[in-house]
Amino acid sequence: MPSDTFYTAIDIGSSKIASVVARVGTEGELKILGTGVVPSQGMQKGRIESIDEVKTAIATSLEEAQRYIGRGVVSGVYVGVSGNHITCVNTKDVVDNPGEVKDINTHLLEQLIKSSFPEVGHSQEVLHIIPIGYDVDGLSGVRNPVGLHAEQVHVDAHVVLGDAVALKNTVKAVESNRVNVKSLVLQSLASAEATLTGDEREMGVVFVDIGAGITDLAIYRQGSPWFSAMIPVGGNQLTKDLQVALGTSFYIAEEIKLKWGHAFPEMLQGIEEVVIPSFQGQPRRMVQRKLIAEPLNARMVEMLKQILLKVRQSGLRQMPDGGLVITGGCSELPGLQELTLGTLGGPVRIAHPRGISGLPTNLRKPAFSTAVGLLLWGIKHQGEKRLYGSGESTLWGKKSFLSRFKKEPKVRSEATVG
Ligand SMILES: Nc1ncnc2c1ncn2[C@@H]1O[C@H](COP(=O)(O)OP(=O)(O)OP(=O)(O)O)[C@@H](O)[C@H]1O
Ligand SMILES: [Mg+2]
Repeated sequence: MPSDTFYTAIDIGSSKIASVVARVGTEGELKILGTGVVPSQGMQKGRIESIDEVKTAIATSLEEAQRYIGRGVVSGVYVGVSGNHITCVNTKDVVDNPGEVKDINTHLLEQLIKSSFPEVGHSQEVLHIIPIGYDVDGLSGVRNPVGLHAEQVHVDAHVVLGDAVALKNTVKAVESNRVNVKSLVLQSLASAEATLTGDEREMGVVFVDIGAGITDLAIYRQGSPWFSAMIPVGGNQLTKDLQVALGTSFYIAEEIKLKWGHAFPEMLQGIEEVVIPSFQGQPRRMVQRKLIAEPLNARMVEMLKQILLKVRQSGLRQMPDGGLVITGGCSELPGLQELTLGTLGGPVRIAHPRGISGLPTNLRKPAFSTAVGLLLWGIKHQGEKRLYGSGESTLWGKKSFLSRFKKEPKVRSEATVG
């Protein structure tokens, strides 16, 4: 049974800030107690541009989320982070026990994981070190080596780093609301927690969360995250393209995109016409829906190419067997699945948080994968020490690493149980 009872997630997105407060019940069920969603202000592609605006927006969203439960319940929060300051590296480290055949114990693994801590300069902080596999005396692909006899153990770890100043600003904006940050979590890893099935992770999958300002990408192989990246383009760019194509305002273009947008013009049957409201003295006019779809299609094809480029940069020559899973608000654009199938091949799945009994319908949307995933991440990794800002990076390892070998708290979730 999880020892923490209340969990709070804050997703600081480019278009919205979403706070969700939840509780894990006695049966292991996740109960959502409150949600606060407000328009985002002061954020630019994952970085805080105006800390006062972000602080205020977080305050409003937290207030709304706590409306029916009273203040004081929320103390520690899990916060999503992304942006082009995030980098990832896969490390391989070794511990030798020459001469003696030893039982691998948690102390040894602790040593190993400490040695995975990369050298980082003042400008960077380590966000995650995720052990992804062990090599025990030449036997690779061992998931949990505790208890095995071995002379030499290697660990492969996926390490995620972020810019120290950007992370510090995020913590500052959140903690100004009299809550403490339990952990900063890479947004793609959080979203994946709420959406990917165990099979997809095992088979290997490219996972993307297409938001308003950024597209977060994670590649999973053999059950674990293996590559993380971001593309600094999201739904806002589609709206800007439509704005130019229609000669209208961003807000009108956004409204038209949400109502009539389509990623695949060939799928649109007949001549459907859409009313474009008047703008700057121009009268309202009729435009064919296919013409609205064309700039969206062009941008989406470009974004899919960038996704493929990242997959190639990761070292993969082809899409993994689990294909591509897409979430984030932008994944709701009609025709995206068909366009992606036609451009990159299959399988392609549009995902939203699911499988969590009692999850309110307002959170069962792709735009809330990060917020719901942050709660699941918090439950799974509860009790772990946050890595960044601790000033004791070399001491890291004990709790967070060892907790992998403890029984994980069970939350009823198809996504996490797989
Ligand atoms: N039905 C829809 N069709 C097309 N686009 C949509 C639809 N619904 C939402 N979007 C787009 O999704 C984007 C918002 O997605 P989301 O809420 O996931 O972003 P965010 O988390 O705030 O931003 P980011 O993750 O980039 O920081 C907006 O660009 C919005 O226009
Ligand atoms: Mg987002």
